[in-house]
Amino acid sequence: MPLLHRLVRNDSAVISFTIDGVPCDGRAGDTVLTAMLCQVDRLRYSEFSAAPRAGFCQMGACQDCRVQLASGEQLRACTTPLTEGMDIITRRGRGHG
Ligand code: FES
Repeated sequence: MPLLHRLVRNDSAVISFTIDGVPCDGRAGDTVLTAMLCQVDRLRYSEFSAAPRAGFCQMGACQDCRVQLASGEQLRACTTPLTEGMDIITRRGRGHG
């Protein structure tokens, strides 16, 4: 179940991406964090406790929102604009924990 419910940009251009291989749609102007949490209830799992994480500061300071792309690139979800074709990995064993 998504952690966020979209209230704005419903009419903006659709941006397609995947989370763990599952096709998802975001909207132009979304950050990766917004787009992901409109689809699922976490950004990743903690490498220390395995607890789900969904960001903390929301302003690029804490790195709690760090996510990994299938390419291996890591980024801060709260400050990175969503772009077409992003392939985001959250599952343990595929680059986390
Ligand atoms: S939520 Fe803290 S850096 Fe993104």
